[in-house]
Amino acid sequence: MAADISTHDPITSSYRSSHTELQAWVDEVAALTEPDRIQWIEGTDTEWVQLTDELVEAGTFVRLDETKKPNSFWCASDPTDVARVEDRTFICSVDEADAGPTNNWMAPSEMKRIMLDLYAGSMRGRTMYVIPFVMGHLDSAHPMFGVEITDSAYVVASMRVMARVGREVLTRIEETGAAYVPALHSVGAPLEPGQADVAWPCSDTKYIVQFPEERMIWSYGSGYGGNALLGKKCYSLRIASAMGRDEGWMAEHMLILKLTSPAGDVKYIAAAFPSACGKTNLAMVEPTIPGWKVETLGDDIAWLRVGADGRLYAVNPEFGLFGVAPGTGWDTNANAMRTIAQGNSVFTNVALTDDGDIWWEGMTDEAPAHLTDWKGRDWTPDSEELSSHPNSRFCTPIRQCPILADEYDDPNGVPIDAILFGGRRRTTIPLVTEARDWTHGTFMGATLSSETTAAATGAVGVVRRDPMAMLPFIGYDAGDYFSHWISMAKNNDETKFPKIFYVNWFRRDDEGGFLWPGFGENSRILKYVVDRLEGNVEANETAIGLVPSPDAIDTEGLDITADQLAEALRVDAAEWKAEIPQINEWFEKFGDTLPTVLWTELDGLKSRLEG
Ligand code: GDP
Ligand code: PGA
Ligand code: MN
Ligand code: MN
Repeated sequence: MAADISTHDPITSSYRSSHTELQAWVDEVAALTEPDRIQWIEGTDTEWVQLTDELVEAGTFVRLDETKKPNSFWCASDPTDVARVEDRTFICSVDEADAGPTNNWMAPSEMKRIMLDLYAGSMRGRTMYVIPFVMGHLDSAHPMFGVEITDSAYVVASMRVMARVGREVLTRIEETGAAYVPALHSVGAPLEPGQADVAWPCSDTKYIVQFPEERMIWSYGSGYGGNALLGKKCYSLRIASAMGRDEGWMAEHMLILKLTSPAGDVKYIAAAFPSACGKTNLAMVEPTIPGWKVETLGDDIAWLRVGADGRLYAVNPEFGLFGVAPGTGWDTNANAMRTIAQGNSVFTNVALTDDGDIWWEGMTDEAPAHLTDWKGRDWTPDSEELSSHPNSRFCTPIRQCPILADEYDDPNGVPIDAILFGGRRRTTIPLVTEARDWTHGTFMGATLSSETTAAATGAVGVVRRDPMAMLPFIGYDAGDYFSHWISMAKNNDETKFPKIFYVNWFRRDDEGGFLWPGFGENSRILKYVVDRLEGNVEANETAIGLVPSPDAIDTEGLDITADQLAEALRVDAAEWKAEIPQINEWFEKFGDTLPTVLWTELDGLKSRLEG
């Protein structure tokens, strides 16, 4: 798809798709939103130059220095449009009960009435782009097509990085008459004749809406990645999770990595951590233990299907990385630094250096003497505010990742050996705990808790339940989603399924410091996981699951005291007893849809803690 096919006629306003349903939808949206022109996205290099030139011209992009970050751009959003808006995100199922207690809901007809009003004329003065895309591989046994219509060139440029888009996809949709997920996006900022545009058009009114039965997405008012690149969270998690429930597979908020031991044994690991809790870092971790190798397959989303051999196979439906910038540096995530160094990237809400490069907190120990901050103001190390928004992002092609696993491009994916759940908790949760079985692992996932981060608007640092790191992404009733997890193992051979572990890199000591150094050192926990899979080490039965003795973790060359490690691994009965009423309250929200086996797990935990 990287091939330049600009020798073809450009697809312009006059293009008529032979896919009658698609063409009818494009016509209908154009009539509703009244754009000045229509552009079908082909995915060519010529088109990339045209789009990015226009974005530079509009003041949305600043081209970075060609010798520092080739073919790359700095971009600052409106300061109010910097993260996913969970309170404006809706699951509009026909029945309210199908959205469950964790989602916002409105009746589809009511939502459509409101949004049709908003969309009416919303693209005036703008170009309407039609982006044919496929999540996952075009040659997959189940190609997952989508078409996004948007009035944002920023969205087009970002979608070209994050998904497989363009002419080849469109041709396949047309030739096979395939179904696709229609995904409509408008920034909600029409231009009157003669009205000057702003660098980041958006609206104060925002709606991010999924219609799960219709497999349809409507988004309005925001240009931010998670709200506007509709192939990502809206399709590959919210809509796909509903498809997976109906069709017997799973769409999860998980990284995928390949781990090779010094002896050459390969394991594939998937890990679900909430947004801004370490997925991208772990996906491309550089092991600190000699002889171990990690290769990347995905850093945010995994689709899991049972293969002919009964194992759970994972594919990454995405084509790019949309990573949290702050905290990414040569010491913490060198592979991300190498990936962006190759260019072809968009950096949003980071700082701009005086010599046309980008910087953010944590990239280097010392900040440059002068920067332009993400709000476009002069910045020096003495400035009161951070130079970059805490949720600033790099958007970069995954193919540039120097440790990308070859299997990344396998339409069938890779067989998963272990699933890790993890969150950001200062207390309570040990560095690593192993589930006794799949049902216990589902309980761990269903009760996963984490402190909120800047990846969504709202307060940061508040502990909330974030089941399977999917709280903002489950496209239906979360109780039914837990049942789906349980039934995946019940309807298949559980002995062939991955083992489940729960990790916490973020436990703190009394002074507030991290007990575990994290980052590259997390490879020691990956090694422990492999040792458990292979039966090489023992683990201790505790009230909460199987926890290693400190000597089961390889600490060779690690700067950590025995006390610190013991503290990181400690199961504190008092802290866990304090969790019980919270878990109880959490489960009660679901009423009948919560699988009974999860209540049984809670009862077991309670009695073991008291015993
Ligand atoms: P993602 O949003 O889940 O992909 O999370 P990222 O990998 O982008 O990390 C989010 C933030 O957590 C960044 O600021 C990282 O520097 C930080 N982080 C990632 N891994 C670790 C870790 O092992 N320990 C600590 N203390 N911080 C981490
Ligand atoms: P993240 O992806 O998980 O890498 O933060 C974006 C998001 O979840 O909003
Ligand atoms: Mn995510
Ligand atoms: Mn990430």
